[in-house]
Amino acid sequence: AGSGKFFVGGNWKCNGTKDSISKLVTELNSAALESDVDVVVAPPFVYIDQVKSSLSDRIEIAAQNCWVGKGGAFTGEISVEQIQDLGCKWVVLGHSERRHVIGEDDQFIGKKAAYALSQGVGVIACIGELLEEREAGKTFDVCFKQLKAYADAVSSWDNIVVAYEPVWAIGTGKVASPEQAQEVHLAVREWLSKNVSAEVSSKTRIIYGGSVNGGNCAELAKKEDIDGFLVGGASLKGPEFATIINSVT
Ligand code: G3P
Repeated sequence: AGSGKFFVGGNWKCNGTKDSISKLVTELNSAALESDVDVVVAPPFVYIDQVKSSLSDRIEIAAQNCWVGKGGAFTGEISVEQIQDLGCKWVVLGHSERRHVIGEDDQFIGKKAAYALSQGVGVIACIGELLEEREAGKTFDVCFKQLKAYADAVSSWDNIVVAYEPVWAIGTGKVASPEQAQEVHLAVREWLSKNVSAEVSSKTRIIYGGSVNGGNCAELAKKEDIDGFLVGGASLKGPEFATIINSVT
């Protein structure tokens, strides 16, 4: 960990019921969490209100997605204004599941980021390469192209956290080694320095996501450019998520 306050997000994805979420909230409310960590959870939209009204204010709430502009006649979408109305301070954008399962492209994601930021909602901006892209030696190219789409669309990086999530590590149990993650995090930081500014490069938190768990978080957290985590599966278990939060060094 190096830049700014350690940041740990729990992305609950499309999981949970009113009952299971109530249990998870109870576990989180009773966990002892290091104070020097920003902690955010991203419940499915339909449970945000339940979580907001029951979860300790110690933990902030993110939406897992949002519409690209102001709300209106967009059937099935959820606007930035609506997630804000429910108390979300953050939104996860560019997640690999939205890129690769649902088909969102770089430009669309960039536009969403710009709109969310313009309304005062922070963006957890995900990037990451597919296995075949890594094997073809294209990891940096892919990550830089995705970063550029954010950089081209936004006018300030004050409220952005970059999440590096190699797609081959997501939900597979195959975590990137601390060295593999550090290598990309450092490259992202250097890209930001060259293409945005030295200040943004040194201040922006770059967090790692992909099969992070209670057993592997401590080694990853030691790396200079790993400033936190975005956790999927392990964030559905309160005590394990607390272990990950408390891996701050
Ligand atoms: O956004 C977090 C994520 O994609 C990682 O998921 O289950 O591999 O921790 P998981």
